[in-house]
Amino acid sequence: MQSNIGAVMALNPMPIVVVGAMVDGKPNWTEVAHSGIVGMDRIMVSMVKAHHTNKGIRETGKVSVCLVDEGMLREADIAGVLTGNKDDKSVIMLWHPGTSGVPIPDKAPVVMECEVYQNVETEGFDNFILDIKATWVQDDLLTDGKIDSSKVGAVLFDGPTYSYVRTGETICPCTSLAKRS
Ligand SMILES: Cc1cc2nc3c(=O)[nH]c(=O)nc-3n(C[C@H](O)[C@H](O)[C@H](O)COP(=O)(O)O)c2cc1C
Repeated sequence: MQSNIGAVMALNPMPIVVVGAMVDGKPNWTEVAHSGIVGMDRIMVSMVKAHHTNKGIRETGKVSVCLVDEGMLREADIAGVLTGNKDDKSVIMLWHPGTSGVPIPDKAPVVMECEVYQNVETEGFDNFILDIKATWVQDDLLTDGKIDSSKVGAVLFDGPTYSYVRTGETICPCTSLAKRS
């Protein structure tokens, strides 16, 4: 039996990301749970318009989007609590500029350096659709040149419990079940 519990945001858990942008010449970071894949080669981050980071993204059109592992979870959490509208978040983690000038956290496991393709504005939100221009990965997280998710250990966000959760185990290769007789 299934119960209708109303119009509930049920897409959980999702990878948590740290979004970085240069704002008035300084890096600023924010933590974002609401992100997604658009088509085959773009990503989307959904961000409250009033966030300080949005100002930098709107002005520069450039942004970094990092997966978060447990080693940078505290910094990510801080980025989600403090706002650059009041605090200088440039100091909460070590960073370096990417090829486009976006700030990249030194210890991020995986970082996509992006440019804004389109901003689909909804009430109170900038929904930035982003072209991925470069992807930086810690060398030890690659297997045969590909990102190895089992090594990355991306932290997930669970909405109903408002918690961070670990990624799980591989069940089986996709389409293998469909092929089973
Ligand atoms: C776990 C967590 C998830 C969050 N997810 C989002 C999100 O998906 N979109 C958003 O706009 N803000 C999200 N926030 C809130 C921002 O990270 C927070 O308001 C931050 O202080 C904004 O920083 P800024 O003003 O310096 O950009 C989240 C915060 C936390 C703690």
